[in-house]
Amino acid sequence: MSTDESDKVAAASPAREASESSRFRKEPDPRFWALNRSLPFDWQLAAYDIDQSRAHARGLLGIGVLDEDELSRIDAGLERVRERMAEHGFAFEDSDEDIHMAIERLLGEEIGPLAGKLHTGRSRNDQVATDVAMVVQVHSLQAIELCAATMAELLSLAEAHRDWALPGYTHLQRAQPVYLGHHLLAYFWMLARDVLRFQFALDSAGVMPLGSGALAGVNWEIDREAVAADLGFEHVSHNSIDGASNRDFVLDYLAAASACSMHLSRLGSEIVIWSSTEFGFCELDESFSSGSSIMPQKKNPDSAELLRAKSPRVAAAHATLLGVMHALPLTYGKDMQEDKEPLFDAIDTVEGSLEMAAGMLTGIEFDRERMEDASGDEMLAATEVADLLVRKGVPFREAHGIVGGLVRDAVEQGGKLSDLTPEQLRARSEHLDESFYEVLERSSWLESKRIAGGTGSVPLEAQLGEARETLAAVRARVLEERS
Ligand code: ARG
Repeated sequence: MSTDESDKVAAASPAREASESSRFRKEPDPRFWALNRSLPFDWQLAAYDIDQSRAHARGLLGIGVLDEDELSRIDAGLERVRERMAEHGFAFEDSDEDIHMAIERLLGEEIGPLAGKLHTGRSRNDQVATDVAMVVQVHSLQAIELCAATMAELLSLAEAHRDWALPGYTHLQRAQPVYLGHHLLAYFWMLARDVLRFQFALDSAGVMPLGSGALAGVNWEIDREAVAADLGFEHVSHNSIDGASNRDFVLDYLAAASACSMHLSRLGSEIVIWSSTEFGFCELDESFSSGSSIMPQKKNPDSAELLRAKSPRVAAAHATLLGVMHALPLTYGKDMQEDKEPLFDAIDTVEGSLEMAAGMLTGIEFDRERMEDASGDEMLAATEVADLLVRKGVPFREAHGIVGGLVRDAVEQGGKLSDLTPEQLRARSEHLDESFYEVLERSSWLESKRIAGGTGSVPLEAQLGEARETLAAVRARVLEERS
């Protein structure tokens, strides 16, 4: 959600009109108004609120509260309000408490007292919940589409680097060699799960609260199903109390966004490490890097660092709203106005991060030699030697100990495993013969991982096929939702 128009909204000042017809004699204190006024951020709901009002007006036509002529004047008026707000430099009044009140006031300027009929059978409680659910629907789908774009980049990199070896790490210590294609697909599957999470948020935001009124339902039998269909909701809420007080769909979006940003942070972090001179496994394109103001030689992986650092603020948005909703008595409390800023910030952050991740991956270059040299470290074959002994009948735990001894012998004499003599091997185990040296051939360590989901070329080909199918299914889903 863009924030560049927020400066159009003037600073808060006292404004409620204290008149004879009002419940209040006093104007709100400016210190209260500054916090109470949600317009500085909820102006971003304007387009949703206008769409909703138009659908609600059609609902009012259905029960005879509006006639055809009134409906078309309200429709035209709302569209003029939309145009006016789109004008550059449009300013709200300090007395506008929130976007809903502002639109109602502007509609009054356009069409006169008829504007006052629009709020029949509606409360700002169900109105705001409905607007926010519409936002969550739009941006859950947007996130799914952006995940798919990043997944596509990961998949094409995986295809192009399916047989490039590099060390896999545990504890950031070299552990076992893997193919780069296999490693990159790990991120593909993380994002595939994020798609499922955003899909869940999309579905949970597909229940329309409108009709719940303030909390008890309304006195007008508006056809909720028809209004819901008009606005693209799958269902209407079962219970007006739940409808007015539910923000689970926002929490579902924020949970999905937190997991997704966390995944991107792990990707970013690895790229930062891999692009260091010490590793030298990859290099980012210049267009996703920056220089140093003092050290002319520097090319810094800022984009990857930002992916790493953006994630906690999304998780914080989730924690913030959980905190706001925690122990909140039913139904609506002004507390719930605090749902929007965390949501809008998380939307901007996760969408921006996904867009940048896809672009950053497009131009990344990997260094085959550097990765292969690192993965050629013979110590990485220790598990292979243990399995060789297992094949000769030695229990794995015992084999683990024997190989540990061989590693110690090699390290103590300052050499590699393959420098050990047949005599040294036999001193550790009678089962060690020439096959020990064959197992140390690098390609065998990778190709021995033939199990489904393993790094060997055979299961990796199958995995690439599964990834292609998954991506096609996600894209088909997006098209279906958009149609
Ligand atoms: N600006 C408010 C919000 O975002 C709208 C709902 C106000 N409802 C009320 N009962 N005061 O939550």
